[in-house]
Amino acid sequence: GAPVDVDLASLRPGELRTVEWRGKPVFVLRRTPEMIDALARHDSLLADPQSRRSEQPETARNALRSSRPDLAVIEAVCTHLGCVPGFRPTPGSPDIGAQWPGGFYCPCHGSKFDLAGRVFKNVPAPTNLTVPPHRFLSETVLLIG
Ligand code: FES
Repeated sequence: GAPVDVDLASLRPGELRTVEWRGKPVFVLRRTPEMIDALARHDSLLADPQSRRSEQPETARNALRSSRPDLAVIEAVCTHLGCVPGFRPTPGSPDIGAQWPGGFYCPCHGSKFDLAGRVFKNVPAPTNLTVPPHRFLSETVLLIG
C-alpha cells in the first residue's frame, strides 16, 4: 500500500480523525495538554506502559508512543481479535469505570487502551495498539507508511 498524507492544519486539540492505510483504519489524535499530562499518571493500571513488547517505530518507543507529544498515530485495530475500538476521551465512565482516564474502548470484549494506545491489565487484548510507521514532513503534514 502507498503511504498516506494527512493534513494536520485543521485538526484541533482533542480531535480524532480516522484515515485509511493499507485497508486498515488509523486514528490520528491531537492530544490536549491535559491528555498528555494524564498519560503520566496511570502506569500502574497498564500491562506494558513502556511499550517493551508492543509494536511501534523506534521513534515512538516511549510512554507517549510518539515522536510528537501532541500527535498520536495508532492503528484502530484491537490487538485481541481486530475490532475497531471506540474513542472515549472523557475521564471516568459509568460503564467502563470510575478510574477510566480516557482512551479507546473495544466494544467487542471490553479491552481498554489509553490515549497512547497502551493496553490496560486484565483485558483480553495482549499488547498495546500498533503504532504504524509514520513521520512528520512538516508541522502540518503527517505521512503514514
Ligand atoms: Fe477487542 Fe476482543 S476484539 S476486545
